Formats: sequence, structure tokens, C-alpha cells
Amino acid sequence: MEVKILGISGSMRKDSGTEHAVQEALKAAQEIDADITTEFISLNSKKINTCIHCDRCFKKGTLCALKDDFQEVQKSFLEADGFILGSPVYNMNVTPVLSAFMSRVRPTYLVHPGHFTRKVGGAIAVGGGRNGGQEMTILNIHNFYQTYEILCCGGSLAEPAGAMLWSRDGSREGAKNDAPGNMGAVRIGKRVAQTAAFLKFGWECFEKEGKNIYITQKWFDY
Ligand SMILES: Cc1cc2nc3c(=O)[nH]c(=O)nc-3n(C[C@H](O)[C@H](O)[C@H](O)COP(=O)(O)O)c2cc1C
Repeated sequence: MEVKILGISGSMRKDSGTEHAVQEALKAAQEIDADITTEFISLNSKKINTCIHCDRCFKKGTLCALKDDFQEVQKSFLEADGFILGSPVYNMNVTPVLSAFMSRVRPTYLVHPGHFTRKVGGAIAVGGGRNGGQEMTILNIHNFYQTYEILCCGGSLAEPAGAMLWSRDGSREGAKNDAPGNMGAVRIGKRVAQTAAFLKFGWECFEKEGKNIYITQKWFDY
């Protein structure tokens, strides 16, 4: 059974520290089992416009109507079983491009209800400061996961939220040199891969027995 883990780097730089960290996590994910496959996408080469709240998606029940590179990333996002989203810390938060991506995922609710309840995600943040807002950045990514019913996967006992890297000089080299941060990336990669495999296998087992364990819920049906 193939289990696909998608890593996305939210840095706009080439050869960035975040790219490095997400790639480390994906390498570790692959070590879990031969059935784990990975895909890496860097948003630095993508044009992803911000959501303009036009509500065309809501009115017509479609995916996002804005046409740019988002559609290509969305395809991979819909196909994957697990996610590792990484962002450089910008003002104690995710980057604008990652934020734009996260907002554009919104109408998947309408077209694929319940799709993401089977998925799991982990988070990585790379900052120029030792305590520069990595936890806040990870929280933002976790909030995104929770908004779309994606299960949040934590990291290790030492870094419960996810992987936090400190790049002292703000470069890829600096991120590579942060040994504890890299251990965190490895840990989150493995944990996401394990959890994605359990989830996929579990859902398939129930379905093979003809059981439907999905809790149906209409949006805003309180
Ligand atoms: C606009 C901007 C805001 C930033 N804000 C923070 C911050 O709040 N905290 C921090 O630790 N680093 C901050 N940084 C530094 C980057 O997080 C740091 O250089 C990081 O290593 C870049 O990762 P990358 O190589 O993956 O792009 C900021 C950088 C930029 C350009």
C-alpha cells in the first residue's frame, strides 16, 4: 500500500534552510517503510496569489477559481496521505506565500468533504533567532491543519510541537549546522510517515468490511 508524504517549503529563497529541513524530514519518512513515497515542492518557484474572498467557490461549489500555480500544488496536496509543511519564521509567523497557499485550500471542503480527515500533518519552522517565533509559526501551520480536519502530528519530547531550527546566519548552511533542529526534522518526518500509514491502513480495513466510520457533518451545521 503506497503512502505518500508531501513536503512543502514556504521559503521564497533558493537553497533555503527550510528546503533543507523539509527534505531531511522526507528522507527520514522514507526510512519508515519501502511503501512510503515522498514528493517535495518548494513554493519559491510558484506564483500563488492570495485569496480575494470572491466567494466564487462558495456560490458555485467549486475549487478556487483563481488560476495560477496553486492548481498544480493543490493536485499534490489532494493526493498525499501526509504533509510536512515548513516555513521560515517571518515576524513570528509563516511566510506570505505559505499563508496564501493555506487560504486557497479553503474550498476543498465544498468539493471533497471529509477528504482530509484521513490525513496527518507535521510542521517545521526555521528562524534566524534561537527563540525567534518558531513555536508561533508551527502553531499557525497546526491551525491550518485543524481548520481542514487534518490531524496534527507532534514531534519529540524535547520539541513537542514540531521541528524548530535556528539558522544563526539565516542561511541553508546555518540550518544544516543546527544539530538539535535537524534531529527534530528527522523525528517529525518519521512520525508523520508512521501516522499516515496507520491512518490509511485503518481506513482501508474498515472499508473492506463495508463499514463507514466517517462522521458526516455539513459545514456550519451546529
Ligand atoms: C521579513 C522577514 C522577517 C523575519 N522575521 C523573523 C522572526 O520573526 N524571527 C526569526 O527568528 N527570524 C526571522 N527572520 C529570519 C528568517 O527566519 C531566517 O533568516 C531563516 O533562516 C530563513 O529561512 P530560509 O533560508 O528557509 O528562507 C525574518 C526574515 C525576514 C526576511
